[in-house]
Amino acid sequence: MNMKIAFVGKGGSGKTTLSSLFVRHLAATGAPVVAIDADINQHLGAALGLDDAEAAGLPAMGEHLSLIKDHLRGTNPRIASTEKMIKTTPPGEGSRLLRVREDNPVYDACARPVELDGGTVRLMVTGPFTDADLGVACYHSKTGAVELCLNHLVDARDEYVVVDMTAGSDSFASGMFTRFDITFLVAEPTRKGVSVYRQYKEYARDFGVTLKVVGNKVQGQDDLDFLHDEVGDDLLVTVGHSDWVRAMEKGRPPRFELLEETNSRALRTLRTAVDATYELRDWARYTQQMVHFHLKNAHSWGNERTGDDLAAQVDPGFVLGEEVATLA
Ligand SMILES: Nc1ncnc2c1ncn2[C@@H]1O[C@H](COP(=O)(O)OP(=O)(O)OP(=O)(O)O)[C@@H](O)[C@H]1O
Ligand SMILES: [Mg+2]
Repeated sequence: MNMKIAFVGKGGSGKTTLSSLFVRHLAATGAPVVAIDADINQHLGAALGLDDAEAAGLPAMGEHLSLIKDHLRGTNPRIASTEKMIKTTPPGEGSRLLRVREDNPVYDACARPVELDGGTVRLMVTGPFTDADLGVACYHSKTGAVELCLNHLVDARDEYVVVDMTAGSDSFASGMFTRFDITFLVAEPTRKGVSVYRQYKEYARDFGVTLKVVGNKVQGQDDLDFLHDEVGDDLLVTVGHSDWVRAMEKGRPPRFELLEETNSRALRTLRTAVDATYELRDWARYTQQMVHFHLKNAHSWGNERTGDDLAAQVDPGFVLGEEVATLA
């Protein structure tokens, strides 16, 4: 299994900036990366250096939901049709799984290569959100396209999927927040910044979510002390103001190796924390959680919406895992 990483946090905290820096860091070491923009404000492409026209030309996952469902459904007999597949429908026997490095119809339709210093990554974007996307019970939810992909993704070590994501009610209701090996909560040293952390922590508690705080725009000892007081040991590392980021925002990105040394070190700390979660992985639990959220969504809106009992989509003998990947 690849390593799945989410960057979440309050609007404007620096999710997109830190996601993009981490993606650049991974790419510079030659690691295979899929970067996914699932943030309300779609800026990951720009943060990875695309100009406005290139960013606007990216295909939207939300517009390819049927294709994604159709591909992933494969020959799974428990999923009668694409229309009966909702964002939480789990894989089972006959489903198609995704891998980071392969070519497949989902990537053909939804991913575009982005060249960075040191390597090329795949970028996928949900597309701009509408009011309907922010609803909890949304059949066409754009983040649903991401969740489906995450629930069908398996792979080997040292491959990374980085998701820039909004910490909204949608991700809590659907179970999206449980789909990651590690979640980096980006927080500025402010009360609002850490209040999102508290909410996340509360949801995460019952699901074994590995949550680490990345302090951003941290300027001195007082900022550091504040974050320590508020989040304690969950504080992994902090990032200060970056002139490199500012230059990039002006459309003049310096070479990545010119990123400030303290910020490079912070990115290496993130990488070490990500890689350490490999040993914590539990495929059975991961699969059980998808089933849990599927049954919850089926009950609260999916059954009514599709006219079927979607509990029947659960394949009781199926456990997602690296072994499954080799058989599929
Ligand atoms: N460490 C930093 N150094 C310099 N500028 C930064 C840093 N972190 C974030 N910024 C700037 O702050 C602004 C907000 O950051 P960013 O877009 O990454 O936040 P976000 O959490 O993704 O916001 P949104 O909720 O709007 O998607 C951007 O202009 C970004 O360039
Ligand atoms: Mg953003």
